[in-house]
Amino acid sequence: MRICGLSIILFLVLVLVLVQHSEELSSSHPLHGVVDKVNENAGPYLGLVMAIPAEVDVLQSSGLFIPNSDLPLVDLSGRIFNIGSIRGVDVIYVMCGQRRLNAGITVQILLDVFDISGIVHYGIAGSANDSLSFGDVSVPKYVAFTGSWTWSKFTSENSQFTKLRFGTYNLPEEGENLLANIEFKPEEFYSVGKPMEKVFWLAVDLQWFDIASQLQDLELQRCVNETYCLPKTPKVEYGLRGSTADIFVDNAAYRKFLFKEFNVSTVDEESAAIIMTAMSTGVPCIVFRGVSDLAGGDDKLSSMSLSSLAASNALYVAIEFIELIGNKRLTLTSKRALN
Ligand SMILES: *[C@@H]1O[C@H](CO)[C@@H](O)[C@H](O)[C@H]1NC(C)=O
Ligand SMILES: *[C@@H]1O[C@H](CO)[C@@H](O)[C@H](O)[C@H]1NC(C)=O
Ligand SMILES: *[C@@H]1O[C@H](CO)[C@@H](O)[C@H](O)[C@H]1NC(C)=O
Repeated sequence: MRICGLSIILFLVLVLVLVQHSEELSSSHPLHGVVDKVNENAGPYLGLVMAIPAEVDVLQSSGLFIPNSDLPLVDLSGRIFNIGSIRGVDVIYVMCGQRRLNAGITVQILLDVFDISGIVHYGIAGSANDSLSFGDVSVPKYVAFTGSWTWSKFTSENSQFTKLRFGTYNLPEEGENLLANIEFKPEEFYSVGKPMEKVFWLAVDLQWFDIASQLQDLELQRCVNETYCLPKTPKVEYGLRGSTADIFVDNAAYRKFLFKEFNVSTVDEESAAIIMTAMSTGVPCIVFRGVSDLAGGDDKLSSMSLSSLAASNALYVAIEFIELIGNKRLTLTSKRALN
């Protein structure tokens, strides 16, 4: 009996070890051999994820990413995984595309197929906080998914969660409205070895977040071109809250609502999905978002000309972080979610 029990334990340990080393495609996949080579040649890699071409452009024009000369890229499900290094740290970067589904799928492929020690996400965002302006880079501690709602009946009264009442926004004055109200719902969070939890605020990796505090005094870019510079030098803001939804926010009233009800400083369409996907697998993740617009707030500057500045400031902070992490050679840490 004892021997039998022991061999079962040994068997389980072996299975666990095998499972942990199974980042690879099935043996029948045409790119199976290529992916194996990527994982054998170098790594573990940091996964660097961005959502849109303007965010890729700033990385490419920085010249900081050195592609692997043997195997510079792998195309999986239409996502291009670029293999290489940044300042001596092995990195795979990938543009996930916009919004939650694209972000989640791409990060899941990255984690399942390659040997990844953590996810660094950078990009642009709208600011919902009047103290956070163009070019500032937010390193949020918490990000919520604010696009999951119960759309309540006109007559419904009580609710457990924060509500947005449409009648409040009637013109010329507040009143009732048949759209009634929406109630914000938490996400269902699934993770290794745990039952499903309902989570509203997703936390970035707290150890990585602490390390990123060293980046608060970085000097960010202030000038869009030779003739136009922002009135104030942008800064790194550390520990604010962000929100993600499959919604492009360009509305002053909703912007104000998000700030007032949730203390949300930045809005975007991917961060929460990226954090959640990484956390499910227990891989650390951090987010850097540069302010390119005011999400519908008073906005005299054209956001087009500022998205490149915002993306390049966010990239700059992300690169400095990659260098810090690379030097520390930190390994996997456990993840935490807050309700
Ligand atoms: C808004 O941003 C400023 C930094 O620019 C920060 O000090 C403040 O705490 C933020 N407000 C909230 C509610 O997070
Ligand atoms: C927002 O921040 C204020 C001031 O720090 C705090 O009193 C309030 O509880 C926060 N609200 C939420 C929903 O986090
Ligand atoms: C510099 O940027 C400003 C603000 O976007 C723009 O109005 C101006 O045309 C630009 N100037 C040049 C020389 O590109």
